[in-house]
Amino acid sequence: MPKIFTSDSFSPEERESRKDFIDKHTPYISCDGIAQKGVPLMVHVRVGREHAHIDDFNHYISTITLFDADRMLAKVELAACIVSAEERRGNAEVAFSIVPNKDVYHFNAQCYCTKHGVWQGDELEIRVI
Ligand SMILES: [Fe+2]
Repeated sequence: MPKIFTSDSFSPEERESRKDFIDKHTPYISCDGIAQKGVPLMVHVRVGREHAHIDDFNHYISTITLFDADRMLAKVELAACIVSAEERRGNAEVAFSIVPNKDVYHFNAQCYCTKHGVWQGDELEIRVI
């Protein structure tokens, strides 16, 4: 099993001194609106909140995976150079359409950097009405 980096992988000092590096590898989850049973819910995963990861053929974010707790819900594979190259700078970001069928989800996401491995962000608990 490959090592999975989270913010807990770093000491408080490293979290401060390597803030940019950690941010640009961290998948952040957000949802559109309120989760309702049987109604499609868009779940967004963006890698990097304030900083964009480099995106070239040797070093880029190649997959983004969404989980409910430890159950994989969806995974996308990204090509190199789709969000940034030369003067362009963007964040790898995808949206998944999930139709809730239970009361609560514990979303978490992972991304894979071709140079720095697997990274996981914070869990987002979503209550379904
Ligand atoms: Fe990287």
